[in-house]
This record gives sequence, structure tokens and C-alpha cells, in this order.
Amino acid sequence: MPVSARVSKGNVLTLGGVSTEVLARDFGTPLWIMCQDTIEAAAREIAAGLQHYPAGALPCYAGKAFLCTAMVRLVDKLGFGLDVVSKGEIETALAANFKGSIYLHGNNKTDEELALAVKHNLKVVADNQQDLERLVQLHSKTERTTPTEVLLRIIPGIDLDTHDHIKTGHDTSKFGIPLSQLNDTIAYCLSEKSIKLMGLHAHIGSQAMDLEPFQQVIEVFADIYEEVSKRFSYVLPHLDIGGGLGIAYVASDKPIALEEWTRTISNKMVEAFQEKRGLPLPSLSIEPGRCLVGTAGVTLYRVGRMKQLEQINYLSVDGGMADNPRPITYQAAYTAMVANRMEPREEHLKTWTIVGRYCESGDIIVEEAQLDAAPGDIIAIFATGAYNYSMASNYNRTARPACVLVKDGHSELMIAPETEEDLLRLDRIPSWLK
Ligand code: LLP
Repeated sequence: MPVSARVSKGNVLTLGGVSTEVLARDFGTPLWIMCQDTIEAAAREIAAGLQHYPAGALPCYAGKAFLCTAMVRLVDKLGFGLDVVSKGEIETALAANFKGSIYLHGNNKTDEELALAVKHNLKVVADNQQDLERLVQLHSKTERTTPTEVLLRIIPGIDLDTHDHIKTGHDTSKFGIPLSQLNDTIAYCLSEKSIKLMGLHAHIGSQAMDLEPFQQVIEVFADIYEEVSKRFSYVLPHLDIGGGLGIAYVASDKPIALEEWTRTISNKMVEAFQEKRGLPLPSLSIEPGRCLVGTAGVTLYRVGRMKQLEQINYLSVDGGMADNPRPITYQAAYTAMVANRMEPREEHLKTWTIVGRYCESGDIIVEEAQLDAAPGDIIAIFATGAYNYSMASNYNRTARPACVLVKDGHSELMIAPETEEDLLRLDRIPSWLK
């Protein structure tokens, strides 16, 4: 739950000091709510664990988890850098006048994205040799005289224990440079004056519940940094360890505390680089996405039809897989409560499978929730701050809901709700159908 979650005297969930009944009434449902205090608390914990890293460490928010201009403003305020992966994310950062460091990721960057990186002095996390070659060509077409700072993403060969779709460090990953090709790529970087090679990057995957894979990847890096310094007489000054720390979606999830995660990374860096191998310590960056914003998010739905079959009870809500595609995509589990009756009436408790309104049987939000619910009630689904808005769709031609930021009794839109006009705006009728 968000750190600001409380239950009012009237038995209603409040977030950021605002009643969820009021939020649902004023902004409509479905509704994505983001709690600023929770994001700020997470940021403080992440920074606290990195604070004593001797060579300096910068947390960079992985914008793919949740990005809009208000979020960019908040990330800037937190003093974080920002990871982007598309022209849309770059333009969002620029529109919000982001001041910090921006890293451009992606396994298939367009020329337009790379050109924007050169123009706006973004750092480029190269996924392959072709990224670098395009970058050099684009440089030659600009007035820019300073090199672009580059990190090389490697495939570290680490198989994270998580859903197959969100593993990225295993040997057959589509992301990164295989270690067998790394020396050639480093040699290329060192020979090009428009590239300033900062160091290496790896992201092993997402929703990690264990510290060990992060320690393993640091050992892999330390070996490579040692070899690079011998082979090329070049000391890589920076290292990026990626993101990936998991959060709790249901009571049985036991995630690592954020500060413990970053402190462990920081300590392991010192041990693997300095103590074990006598190497100079590179400066460090990490890229949390989910663990910065995930718990800050709550989705509100209104209960509609309730159907009791012999084998199962269905409670339908007014959203579903279009605003939260994670259950159908990753079989992700969530926690549900009745926001306007937080303390249930024991005698009314029943097992309900919460389903969305979309035309697929797989549109299930929570299986078997114990709820005291009736039509018109508000259902709160917790930990929807990451990869919900950012992965939402217009399936069944429904408009995306609003997203509201809450803090200290205030609630304001971060993202306005789409309307059917927005859906129709891009439609065109080819002449022969007119
Ligand atoms: N850095 C890179 C290069 C990444 O690809 C990602 C996530 C992150 C950082 C942030 O990872 P996080 O801290 O959020 O785990 N849609 C999936 C998650 C996909 C993650 C993609 N990359 C989901 O809903 O679980």
C-alpha cells in the first residue's frame, strides 16, 4: 500500500489525505492514483543505500514503468537521472524540461532517436555495434564537436528467477552485446572520436526478489573491467547495473528493502573491484523503475454486475485488461479491497473473482478475493503504479482513464482521461469508402 494509505472514521480508504470515494466521484472510474509521498520515500531509500559509494552513484528512473510530464518533473525534483527508450519518452522528458542526465536505451533505436540523443546531449546505451555505427554517421552530419557518452550493454549470462518475458540477462537475450563480441566493440569505440566510452551496462531482468543475481553480475563486470584495462590500457570510468528490484503485489511476496538493495550493490562493488582485484572503482548508476513507482499506484474501479455460478462468483468492474494488462500478460497477482468499506462485515464476506469488462475470458484482475462487496462499491487494486498506465491500451475501443497525483490532501490530474473524441481523432476514411 502507499505510505499515505489510511482508513477514515467512515471506514473509507484515503490516499494522500484524500478520500477514495471523493476521488472516484470527482475523477470517475477506472482511475489511476499515484501517491507522491510513496515515490519520494522510495527515492530516499534508494539514495540512502548509494550515499556512501566512494566513487559516486546516480539512480536513474526507468521511465518505461510510468512516464508523463508531471512524473518527469518529480524525477527531476528527486535528483534522479532518467532512462528513456523511445522518441515519445525523449519528447516527454524534453517537454518537461528535464535537467538531469538522460540515458537512451533500446535494442533497435531509430535514426531519429539517435539524432535526438546527439542534439540534446543524451547518453547512449548501445545495444549493438550498429547503434554505434549509426551514431558515428549521425555525428558527422552535425555541428557537434564533443563526443557522445556511450555505455555498452552486455549480455552477462545470468538467468534471473522471474517470469520468462521479463528476463533480460540470459545467454539468448535479445538485449545487449554477447561477451564474445565485446572486445571488437570496445576497440571500435576507442577508435572513434565522436564516441566517449564511459563503461558497460547490464539489466538482468525485472521483479527480482533476490540480491544474489546483482552480486553475480558485479563479479562478471569486475572480470571484464580488469580484462579491458589490461588489453586496451583503458580504465572504464563508469558502470550501470540496471534496475529490476521486485515489489510486493500480494501478502506472500517478500521483496528486498530498497536501501538494502542499493547498499548491497554499493558494498559488492567495493569488494569485487577494489578489495578482490585492486581495480579503480568506477562511478555507478542504477535504473529502478518498478520499485520507485509501483507501490505508489492504486487503481479504483466501480463494481458493476455480480454473477454467482455454481462453481465461481464473478464480480465485474468497469476496467480491466486495457488499464492493467499485467495479469493476462504475466499471470501477475494483485491485492483487492473494497475502498469504501475497508473493514468488511464478516457475515457478508464472499469469495469473488474480480473480472474486467473486456471481451476475453482471461480478463481477470484478481482470482478469489475475499470481499464484502455490492454493486456501486469502489474496488481498490494496489501496486498498480508500474507498467499499468505505460502498458495500457484502447482495447474494445475504450478510452484510457485519468491518472491523479495525491499529496497532503490535494489531488490533481497528471494525465487527463481520454474521451471517445480522442479515439476518433486519428481515424480516416479512405476515399473509396466514403
Ligand atoms: N533498465 C532497463 C534497461 C530495463 O529494460 C528495465 C525494464 C529497467 C531498467 C527497469 O526495470 P524495473 O526496475 O522496472 O524492473 N512490463 C513488465 C516489466 C518490463 C521491464 C522492462 N525493462 C512488467 O509489467 O512486469
